[in-house]
Amino acid sequence: MHSRSADNGISRRAALTRLGASALGLSFMNSSLFDQRATAEALGPPLSKFSERSRTLLSQTVEDPEFSGRIPADLVDAVAKSEKASVDDVMLRLLPLAQSYSRAPISNFFVGVVVRGASGSLYLGANVEIPGQCLGFAVHAEQAALSNAYMNSEESVTTLAVVGGAPCGHCRQFMEEISPAGEIRVLIPNRPPVKLASILPMAFGPTALGATQGALPIRKTNLVFTGKASDVLSAAALNAACRSYAPYSKSPAGVAIRTTAGRIFQGCYIENVAFNPSLSPLQTALVQLILAGQPYSSIAAVTLVEVQRAKISQRAVTETVLGALAPQLKLEVVLARV
Ligand code: THU
Ligand code: ZN
Repeated sequence: MHSRSADNGISRRAALTRLGASALGLSFMNSSLFDQRATAEALGPPLSKFSERSRTLLSQTVEDPEFSGRIPADLVDAVAKSEKASVDDVMLRLLPLAQSYSRAPISNFFVGVVVRGASGSLYLGANVEIPGQCLGFAVHAEQAALSNAYMNSEESVTTLAVVGGAPCGHCRQFMEEISPAGEIRVLIPNRPPVKLASILPMAFGPTALGATQGALPIRKTNLVFTGKASDVLSAAALNAACRSYAPYSKSPAGVAIRTTAGRIFQGCYIENVAFNPSLSPLQTALVQLILAGQPYSSIAAVTLVEVQRAKISQRAVTETVLGALAPQLKLEVVLARV
């Protein structure tokens, strides 16, 4: 038996030190987790914008073995109080933490995003590039954070803060699907807040293809297995497929990843009216794994659930991306029907 932090090759003490401003955080750079979050050197300590007291509050949550990029509303309020700052400011101060999760082996350009859900919880996100693969497989930090809010069943997203430049066109389009009214407030350091509608005028929105609302809140589809599938991983992937958003292809899909330590990460397929910004279920599941600080080497099994004879299939893209991250693994595909 060993603890999860031992799995990461980093002691809890070292992890907590690393989050602060202390120079001892350098010890972290020899750990295997650092190989995954290869940005500490470039970016500095992820919580250095906070007071000691707030760092202690945040470290407890961030280093919790169950953490996956969600900062609950009560902690957000406590930190805002301790900082005597607005939630907007707390979001901006959290950007280096979000950025520290970036995995960008192709560009070495590290983008961090924090979004606020209607519940008041905050969600981290960072860009993820798939080593050796097509640039189109990259997940932008904005998509990562928004998919994190989606996976946590937020009813809507009110605010998005980003470091690494203003959201690109692709991300604005993805945001439009999350909030077709263009209401999301965008915070960029040292700029006044702007609404999505003002930076994406004349938007091509979900109604163009007949969808009546955006991706949130989640509406469940009832799917059942076509055959017998009883294992926990398939059940988790089926649940993710039921919670996926596929109004354009009508091809719901979900993924579940099991780690060597037995933790399960789910990923829902999230479509976009402009098609290309859509996120595959493996991409959203990988974001959950990454925000939990897990290396790709922790991936032990992956199951994809999709609908039999659906218009499109996620199998090929899932196999390709998985092949780049965990070449020894065989993707399990389980079919479902409505
Ligand atoms: N990137 C983002 O994460 N968000 C943006 O809006 C701009 C670009 C990422 C994608 C890729 O990993 C890297 O930055 C270079 O474009
Ligand atoms: Zn983008």
